[in-house]
Amino acid sequence: MTISRKDVADHFGLRAPTYDNSSSWCTDTDLGELLLDLARPGPQDRVLDVACGTGLVSRLFTGRVAELVGVDLTEGMAEQARPYLDRLVLTAAEDLPFEDDTFDIVVCRQGIQFMDLPAAVEEMVRVVRPGGRVVVVNLCAYDERDSEEYFEILRLRNPVRRHFFLPSGLEELLAKAGCEQTRTRSYVSVEDVDVWSDNGAIEEERREAIREVYRRASPEFRALHAVQEADGRFTDHMLFVLAAGTKPGPVAPAQ
Ligand SMILES: C[S@@+](CC[C@H](N)C(=O)[O-])C[C@H]1O[C@@H](n2cnc3c(N)ncnc32)[C@H](O)[C@@H]1O
Repeated sequence: MTISRKDVADHFGLRAPTYDNSSSWCTDTDLGELLLDLARPGPQDRVLDVACGTGLVSRLFTGRVAELVGVDLTEGMAEQARPYLDRLVLTAAEDLPFEDDTFDIVVCRQGIQFMDLPAAVEEMVRVVRPGGRVVVVNLCAYDERDSEEYFEILRLRNPVRRHFFLPSGLEELLAKAGCEQTRTRSYVSVEDVDVWSDNGAIEEERREAIREVYRRASPEFRALHAVQEADGRFTDHMLFVLAAGTKPGPVAPAQ
């Protein structure tokens, strides 16, 4: 089945009212600090938040940088980001309406999994200036031992997800798009699976199918995800990978 941009926007349109409370990672300040540590924003920087959603990442940069721009496909999500941004553009990440080398920093959290790849990451690298940084963040499987079960869970929870990653995948995308000095950090988010699956866009049947994957999960999956079970509810330790890369090329002298 082909997943269109309209499918993605329809999915997130349903999730928009409750998105910020749909996972503990959404508003996790430690995860936000790690992202800032890789992005290293300064007061002169122009920053682009790709797939800004409701602006949970954007607001980490609000007031700290010279200009903050957000782009997203889904109006209901992105309108919530507008108060935190200098400019909001409703557009697809694969076709950014910006000149080459426009931004000092481009960030994208939990977005590339829905996009045409590698095109979207190549666009991020195109619009960042030489010496600027691209930071991508996504949930990943721990390794091959949990990937099949975890990707099934991720697919059930979000049917418009198109890409599923192992930890090395994000850094590889940045390197293939031309970034140098790539580096990664990881972060583990503790999620109550029943809360996480109640995203406002999937029916109870899918939520039950997710519980069923946890019930019959392999010992390897249970160990890697440190799955806990109490009264039929599951807690999962989900892995985020944060990858950053620098665009090569001559850096313009400071004005
Ligand atoms: C899981 S949310 C992440 C939002 C935000 N970055 C965060 O970390 O909370 C994914 C967002 O990606 C947007 N999105 C998905 N595909 C996109 C595309 N091709 N171009 C622009 N935005 C896209 C969706 O509309 C949605 O708002």
